[in-house]
Amino acid sequence: MRVSSVTLRNFRNYIDQFIKPHPAINIITGPNAQGKTNILEAIYYSLRGRSFRAEKDKDVISWQSEQTLLQTEVEYAARSFTIQWKIREGNKKLLVNGAENPRSELDHFGVVLFCPDDLHLIKGSPQERRHFLDYDAGPLNPTYSRSWRQYARVLTQRNTLLKEIRDRRANQEMLEIWDEQLYRHGARVIFLRLQVLKKLIPVARSIHHRLTQGSEELQAKYLSSLVLEPGLSEDQIYQIFASASQKVRHLEIQRCQTLLGPHRDDLSLAINGIEAKTFGSQGQQRTVTLSLKLSQMELWHKEYGDYPVLLLDDVLFELDRNRQSMLLDKVQDKVQTFITTSFTGGIEEVIRGDGALWLVNEGRLSKKEEF
Ligand SMILES: Nc1ncnc2c1ncn2[C@@H]1O[C@H](COP(=O)(O)OP(=O)(O)OP(=O)(O)O)[C@@H](O)[C@H]1O
Ligand SMILES: [Mg+2]
Repeated sequence: MRVSSVTLRNFRNYIDQFIKPHPAINIITGPNAQGKTNILEAIYYSLRGRSFRAEKDKDVISWQSEQTLLQTEVEYAARSFTIQWKIREGNKKLLVNGAENPRSELDHFGVVLFCPDDLHLIKGSPQERRHFLDYDAGPLNPTYSRSWRQYARVLTQRNTLLKEIRDRRANQEMLEIWDEQLYRHGARVIFLRLQVLKKLIPVARSIHHRLTQGSEELQAKYLSSLVLEPGLSEDQIYQIFASASQKVRHLEIQRCQTLLGPHRDDLSLAINGIEAKTFGSQGQQRTVTLSLKLSQMELWHKEYGDYPVLLLDDVLFELDRNRQSMLLDKVQDKVQTFITTSFTGGIEEVIRGDGALWLVNEGRLSKKEEF
């Protein structure tokens, strides 16, 4: 998959910018706070329909304007797609090849992002790892995002109802309607997560083994709030969810919270048998994250026969030389890659293969050279 052009109008600090990225490596340099990450954010937004760092959509609209326009051309599976977003406060609209489209249309486009915040994946709360399951691993199955959004919607409505029941503004029987949907979408989400992890974990383990020259074994396991044995069908997960949920119903009403389900699950990560939370070094955390991101990229390729676009925000030059070259070997000639860095010296020593060097200055991007 390739991004062949991006137009940003009133996106963050870009007023009007057109870019024709290089099909291989794009290195975006410049001093701090000029707009390097904003470019990656624009590409990510185009392909995912949300930012990876804004809390609200309106945050990406330029302070000087009321509306953002993002237009991205993508080449994928021998076809061209024009993805257009119009973003206003409280309202955003997607057009794909000129036709109004549901967001799920984007679920086929692959993008892998690795940014400094991803390091929380290892030491952070279970929520950070669920974020990885929902936004990184899950979408390796094109139906995941839709199932997950349906589950999230039911969950919010059920929690509201739990509160109404506690306050005696609704009666308990009303829960049944939501329960059935909760179990159905919840079982689907768990089932898809397990399916994806079954493929992803072996790839991540082998990449991690190579990145650490055989010194570290990565272990990853899905931790569910339900008691699940390996190899269960979606229907069996539904039954287990339903029966466990009945047992905590009173507590759920007391707390106004749904206590079981995929929104309570976690991913256990360990190196050589030691749980992630106790990993000492930043470098180890970065390597585990890198292994997971690269496995995401490899699995996408296996599933769809093409590589996703790779976005590396301030992470490449923070790796040691050995990991840098392993990463670059993996992407060379195959993966369109966007790398931001404020680092200026010695880029040519690290980068091999074809690409373009871009310079950002106060919301303007210009091509410095091709290599
Ligand atoms: N909605 C917005 N409208 C206009 N400018 C914005 C908006 N949001 C952020 N900015 C500006 O964008 C700039 C930050 O851009 P970005 O995060 O891309 O910088 P960067 O080049 O990646 O910097 P660093 O090297 O520190 O990571 C800041 O100057 C910020 O003030
Ligand atoms: Mg940045």
